[in-house]
Amino acid sequence: MSIMPIYIAPHSVLKKVAEPIEAVNDELKKLMDDMLETMYNAPGIGLAAPQVGVSKRLLVLDVEQPRGPDDEDLPLEKRRGKPICFVNPEVLWSSDEPNVYDEGCLSLPGQFAEIERPKKVRVKFVNYEGKQEEIEADGLLATCLQHEIDHLDGVLFVDHLSQIKRNMIMRRLKKWTKENAEDLADTHIL
Ligand code: NI
Repeated sequence: MSIMPIYIAPHSVLKKVAEPIEAVNDELKKLMDDMLETMYNAPGIGLAAPQVGVSKRLLVLDVEQPRGPDDEDLPLEKRRGKPICFVNPEVLWSSDEPNVYDEGCLSLPGQFAEIERPKKVRVKFVNYEGKQEEIEADGLLATCLQHEIDHLDGVLFVDHLSQIKRNMIMRRLKKWTKENAEDLADTHIL
């Protein structure tokens, strides 16, 4: 497995609509493994393929990662909780009931905003083994899944905000990446 560089907004690959995947083969499984390792390393709870520069309809997430006794990040090899890989995910149903969550994104490091989304979603997808599956997600899993599916359509969490708020966050991000350019150099694409 290897850690892939993460693309930072406003890189154009993050604005593209990603292509459907035709088959789950060894090459795709390698990509899924690498994306999971990249996500755990970041650390993050979700990662979509466009965020590692691959414009394909694939995302990985793990919202059940164990934490240390003082809520600190565990060593990389101990972060695996319940990883799920979603190939060609499709929202079949979403609840009228909304939920608000303070969202962040590995492609907008250091930035957060409260985003309202449906509280529950039902999603169909192809899993790591290449089998068709359906999941009903609630709470953090539902939020994360919708955030990552957005990435496959070239949508970032800031696109759910007013233009004023979005511009403010993008300006802050630009400043943040400038200040942290040295730390980001090996692992991020600016
Ligand atoms: Ni994101």
